[in-house]
Amino acid sequence: MSTDGVEAGGRVRALADGNEIPLLGLGVWQVPNGSECVKAVRWALELGYRHIDTAQAYGNEESVGVALRESGVAREDVFLTTKFYPARRDPAAEAQRSLRRLGVDRVDLYIIHWPQGGPTWAWPGMERARELGYARSIGVSNFDVAELQQVDARASAKPAVNQVQFSPFEYRRALLDACERSGVVLESYSPLGTGRHLSNRKVQQIADAVGRSPAQVLLRWCLQRDVPVIVKSTHRERIAENAALFDFTLSQQDMAALDALDRTGGTGRARERKWWPA
Ligand SMILES: NC(=O)c1ccc[n+]([C@@H]2O[C@H](COP(=O)([O-])OP(=O)(O)OC[C@H]3O[C@@H](n4cnc5c(N)ncnc54)[C@H](OP(=O)(O)O)[C@@H]3O)[C@@H](O)[C@H]2O)c1
Repeated sequence: MSTDGVEAGGRVRALADGNEIPLLGLGVWQVPNGSECVKAVRWALELGYRHIDTAQAYGNEESVGVALRESGVAREDVFLTTKFYPARRDPAAEAQRSLRRLGVDRVDLYIIHWPQGGPTWAWPGMERARELGYARSIGVSNFDVAELQQVDARASAKPAVNQVQFSPFEYRRALLDACERSGVVLESYSPLGTGRHLSNRKVQQIADAVGRSPAQVLLRWCLQRDVPVIVKSTHRERIAENAALFDFTLSQQDMAALDALDRTGGTGRARERKWWPA
C-alpha cells in the first residue's frame, strides 16, 4: 500500500453523532453491477481508500459487497454509505434489503437520496433504521437550507450529513454555512462535475502551476475546506491519482481563484434543477 493511500483512508472528520467519516471516498454511480464495479472498489481499497459510496438506485450494492469481502480489508475499517431510494415508502425495510445485497450487518451512513415528496416524511423511518442497528449514522442528500431546517425541527436525531453537488463551480456557500452552523457535515458529490470541470482553463492553469492534475486540484479544494468528497473512477491509475492529495497545498490565492468559478451565486439551494417530484 502506498503512503498516499494510507493517507487517503486515514484523514477523517468527526460527525455530530460521534462517528467519523473519512474525507475521501470512492463513488460508484453509473458503474454497472458486475466486474467493473467489483474491480473499481477493490482497487480503491487496495490503494488505501476506506470510504465507499453506493445507493439503492445505483443497482450495484451486490458488487460493492463482493469487493469488500474479496479485498480482505476488515469490515470495521471501511466506511460504507448507501442511500434510501425515496420512491419507496419504508426506509427501514429498504435498509434491511440493502444490507442483504451488500452482505454486511450494518452500513456506516444511510442517507435519503433526495427529498422526493417533501423533506420530512422519510426521516422517522431513517431514525428507525438507525435504532434497529442498520446504520451507524443517518443523513440526507440534495437538501436545501430550508429543507434541512424542516427536518431539524422535527427530528429526534439530526441528519449527520448532507451530501450535495459541490465544487468550485457549485460553491454553495450559503448551504455550506447553514450546515456548519447546525452541525451537519456537508459532503461533496460530483467534485469533478462528472468529468466536465476537468477541462476548465483556470483549473488547468492552477494544476500546471502546482504540478498536479486538474482532478487533484478540484479534490484538494474540497479537502482544504474540510469537506468530505466522493469521487468516481473505474480506472486504477485515476483512482490512485485521486487519492494523492495529502502532499500538496493550494495557496490562498489559488483557493480564491477557484472560489471565483462559482456559478450558483453562493446559493443555499442543493440543486438548480431538481429531477424529483416535490
Ligand atoms: N447523492 C446524489 O444525488 C449523487 C449524485 C451524483 C453523484 N453522487 C456520488 O458522487 C460520486 C462522484 O460523482 P460523479 O460520479 O458525478 O462524478 P465525478 O467524481 O465528479 O467525476 C467522475 C468522472 O470523471 C472521470 N475521472 C475521475 N477521475 C479522473 C481523473 N483523475 N482524470 C480524468 N478523469 C477522471 C471519471 O471517468 P472514469 O470513471 O472513466 O475514470 C468520470 O467520468 C458518484 O459516483 C456518487 O457516488 C451522488
